[in-house]
Amino acid sequence: MQHKKAYPSKVFLNGSILDAEKAQISVFDRGFIFGDGIYEVMAQIGGRFFYGDAHLDRMKTCLQKIDIAFDVDALQAEIPALLEASGLTGKDCMLYMQVTRGVAPRQHAYPEGIRPTAMMYAWSKTLPDIVSEGVSTVTRKDFRWSRCDIKMTSLLGNVMANQYAMEQNCYETLFVRDGVLTEASHCNVFFVRDGVVYTHPADEFILDGITRQVVLELCGRLGFELRLEGIPESEIHKMDEAFLTGTSTQITPIREIDGAVLYKDSMGPVTRRLQEAFLEEKLAGG
Ligand code: PDD
Repeated sequence: MQHKKAYPSKVFLNGSILDAEKAQISVFDRGFIFGDGIYEVMAQIGGRFFYGDAHLDRMKTCLQKIDIAFDVDALQAEIPALLEASGLTGKDCMLYMQVTRGVAPRQHAYPEGIRPTAMMYAWSKTLPDIVSEGVSTVTRKDFRWSRCDIKMTSLLGNVMANQYAMEQNCYETLFVRDGVLTEASHCNVFFVRDGVVYTHPADEFILDGITRQVVLELCGRLGFELRLEGIPESEIHKMDEAFLTGTSTQITPIREIDGAVLYKDSMGPVTRRLQEAFLEEKLAGG
């Protein structure tokens, strides 16, 4: 299959900004061998990283959770030079950042005294103001582990789940754990019923998305009643609205779940109102 996406031109790797094809790491890097690392994705909108501090704080927390000692502030200080080299200073773009435990002979337990591998790259992308088209989704058993709160590079479960969605011409797979909807393969999921907004609590079964946190804040500001509860799969058909949240997905209405259409118009009123407030937040610089 052809790659639809282009590689970025420049890559930051362990302190240097390199042409992408010259950015190379050891085959013994624990990120490659074990998926032993964490990552972040954030969007520059109108010259500022949208909730950039929240993304970097989550990166720090995730590094702490897996005992990698790494200076995220020092990495942050390198972002302007990378954007400059990539021709993206002040432009709308996405930034991918990854830190792995580093290079060592293969052993499961954390080796001592090794230097983490840090890598970042940016690519041009302008996110739509409002995502007006709803997407189709499918449900599937959440077969991932139970530390989904760690934004780790070992994403095989998420990759398999997203592939499952693609094969059915859907945008996302919604995970079901013990009969309850948790999140999607690369997004969080929200439901609306009788004007009440529902989403799974931020425990170890979901990634606490930054976009999710913004939406929770907006619900408060707009006066929408909010319940941090996962919706049982058996009650999906009772929902009035559903939407996905994520850094590039933003707030995307869900039109269909497992072939059942939620609403015929483009989206429900609560989703629309949240999208408008989200747009205001982006225009205000996050
Ligand atoms: N995905 N849940 C999962 C499993 C995710 O991978 C993501 C993000 C989210 C939403 O998080 P946020 O709002 O902070 O982007 C929820 C990123 C963007 C990715 O893997 O590309």
